[in-house]
Amino acid sequence: MLATLIHKRVVLGISGGIAAYKSADLVRRLRDAGAEVQVVMTAAAQQFITPLTMQALSGNPVHTELLNADAEAGMGHIELARWADLVLIAPASADVMARLAQGTANDLLTTLWLATRAKRAVAPAMNQQMWAAQVTQENVATLQAHGVTVFQPASGLQACGDVGAGRMLEAVELAQHCANLFQTGLLTGKRVVITAGPTREALDPVRYISNHSSGKMGFSLAEACIEAGAQVTLISGPVHIATPDRVQQIKVISALEMLAASQEAVALGCDVFMATAAVADYRPANIAEQKIKKVGDVISIELVKNPDIVATIAQLPNKPFMLGFAAETERVEDYARAKLHAKKLDMIACNDVSRTDIGFQSDDNAMTVFWHNGMKHLEKAPKAYIARTLVALCAKQLINHL
Ligand code: PMT
Repeated sequence: MLATLIHKRVVLGISGGIAAYKSADLVRRLRDAGAEVQVVMTAAAQQFITPLTMQALSGNPVHTELLNADAEAGMGHIELARWADLVLIAPASADVMARLAQGTANDLLTTLWLATRAKRAVAPAMNQQMWAAQVTQENVATLQAHGVTVFQPASGLQACGDVGAGRMLEAVELAQHCANLFQTGLLTGKRVVITAGPTREALDPVRYISNHSSGKMGFSLAEACIEAGAQVTLISGPVHIATPDRVQQIKVISALEMLAASQEAVALGCDVFMATAAVADYRPANIAEQKIKKVGDVISIELVKNPDIVATIAQLPNKPFMLGFAAETERVEDYARAKLHAKKLDMIACNDVSRTDIGFQSDDNAMTVFWHNGMKHLEKAPKAYIARTLVALCAKQLINHL
């Protein structure tokens, strides 16, 4: 199946060149592939195509100025740099590539390029002699050495009448190349089972005990695993997120249902089990058949312990590689290390759920990940980014597990 850009955020940088007209179609193709697009234009780009056109096509205001108080009050350059999953410059002129290779930060585009940790790519477009020039090729090599993907230009008749290499790739090809950038292949052929979201433990036909989990972390992991080439079963409690493309979702309500679904999914074959779900530790001992009436000022509810899903799976004879999560409000790392050992996990990712800017509900998270002989801090970043890093860490440790 073709790769998509669903839920991907692309900053499309446009520099000056006749190929800028193709960027209009590129925005459309990126959006068709599922991406959200923010456009940044250099001063030279605006000589070829208007910001208004790009605004209409992207559905977002176009960013042109670095030192503009109004723009910075909205989405400033650092926010844009953090927002992006991919910064693509298309067309990338010889001048902009020289500035990127040098680390010059003298306009909005080059500044956010330096400030981002997103994937970075350029689609060069220029006269064939300029493209062939030694200094341009040296700049290309420098950018590649910095981890930048260079979508090599095509050959053909150029706007200036020359024939040769230097034509920007067509929009449809570029959009597909961008989608392919997210396909890491780190878990190719692996079967991954993920638990996500909250569980609901019924008290009576209308009430339940639950928690604030939105499912975002687990769904982001599911997407990251798909990008890594895995076959993914996502067992989720009640959430309001659409099923990610190519993911098999099993919807459950309670911890007991989540356990049964997990056991069934693992029995069908599972190489990696990822437990992001916020499972209720206790459930009401009895579920009232009718709505509990308001009688007296105080009522007591007897709770019984739920089975521990991740610990149960970790006891299987051929257990998969086990990634657990730890949601803590104090002594976060101590408790996480204790859970790593107590639940017989291979890796645990802990987050501080007393913070309102990460953890439950938020689009961002920050985590510390522990495994038996290592650890890594993941700074605050969008959950999609954290998920990709976790997948890369798991893939690395999985090699030792086999
Ligand atoms: O869903 P979001 O809004 O995006 O929020 C993400 C998150 C905060 C829920 C997520 O990052 C997270 O921390 N998930 C783990 C929540 C949790 O229940 O942590 P815990 O420390 O109570 O449990 C430790 C581990 O045991 C977890 O992997 C949990 O899934 C698992 N567990 C717990 C209890 C139980 N009965 N069965 C389990 O499998």
